[in-house]
Amino acid sequence: MKSNVIICGNSIEEMNKMPEASVDLIFADPPYWMRVEGVLKRVEGTEFDGCDDEWDKFDSLEDYEKFTQEWLTACYRILKPNGSIWVIGGMQCIYTIGAIMQRIGYWLINDVIWYKKNPTPNFMGTRLNNSHETLIWATKSKKSKFTFNYKTAKELNTDTVTEDEFNRGVRKQLGSVWRFSVCSGDERIKDDDGNKLHSTQKPLDMLKRIVAISSKEGDIVLDPFGGTMTTGVAAKMYGRNYIMIERDKKYCEYGERRLKSTKKHMDDVANAVFDIKPIKMTVQEMISTNALKVGEWFSFRDGEPVAKLLKSGKLEYKGNEMDMHTCAATARGVKASRVNGFDFWYVTRDGSLISIADIRNECREKILS
Ligand SMILES: C[S@@+](CC[C@H](N)C(=O)[O-])C[C@H]1O[C@@H](n2cnc3c(N)ncnc32)[C@H](O)[C@@H]1O
Repeated sequence: MKSNVIICGNSIEEMNKMPEASVDLIFADPPYWMRVEGVLKRVEGTEFDGCDDEWDKFDSLEDYEKFTQEWLTACYRILKPNGSIWVIGGMQCIYTIGAIMQRIGYWLINDVIWYKKNPTPNFMGTRLNNSHETLIWATKSKKSKFTFNYKTAKELNTDTVTEDEFNRGVRKQLGSVWRFSVCSGDERIKDDDGNKLHSTQKPLDMLKRIVAISSKEGDIVLDPFGGTMTTGVAAKMYGRNYIMIERDKKYCEYGERRLKSTKKHMDDVANAVFDIKPIKMTVQEMISTNALKVGEWFSFRDGEPVAKLLKSGKLEYKGNEMDMHTCAATARGVKASRVNGFDFWYVTRDGSLISIADIRNECREKILS
């Protein structure tokens, strides 16, 4: 299957031509069926240019349900068993979409609130200002081993960690309320006359976050409703392959240009380096490389000898043989029966104390070099 392409066509028909279980990640921003009536006017009288496009019009709820059922079924077939799908929608459509997804067999992982930092006001003041949209993140089944770059997600958490905290090294779990601004200014793609190209362009930072946390380098990312191709841009930047489908020729043409000018930029987030598991290294392996010596004394931070290292990789403490985690807990007299020994034990090298965690890091670096 060809990737890094924009397919100009009907997404249901195009997806039905694709091989089964061939896509790692899907992001879908379908027509919301906004049902905008009349002209929306700002308080000062100017017209608000909302989404009143032909592609967003449906005759009835049945019509919208049929369309939703068809495209979500097509996505289900082409999604790999361990892939995942994100679908975004507003209050007009997200409940219909969520119900249909569950009926098809999707397994819901999370729903995420996109809290708009700069929402469109409710000009007439007749109801609450609609300041969020919802994203549904789902897999094909409960058993799916989908990609979740958990620690990378923590690195991207600017929602509950302030810049000052972040700079001080504070990291918190990424939650399900995300704050991004609605596309405006330079981020908005303009047509050759300088007018807004698309009424519902999504923020690139949101797509970059989605791609970063739920896919890997080289994965295939598909978007059945390409629009300005924001998903393709995020995928290309982060070294993923994209398949974008869009029915409107004009959007496809501008999208080609946008993608052509996009450069791949592999940084730590794109590489998900925070989620790379360090090489496992036991005390015995450290003995076998002479990083630790049989018979040497292990101490705590004060440098007083506490336990002696045995050939087995265990420690001798007051005549008893035990692993270093149990020994650290016992010798320190803590409530737990085991603690992480790498956080506690030191040995002496050239007259100075060095933690065995640092010795382990040196061993890992030697293996990698
Ligand atoms: C909500 S917009 C997507 C905007 C996009 N996420 C972005 O950031 O620019 C939905 C897009 O789907 C396209 N579309 C609607 N129905 C389609 C269909 N059946 N097949 C392919 N594209 C379709 C519309 O032309 C529109 O550009």
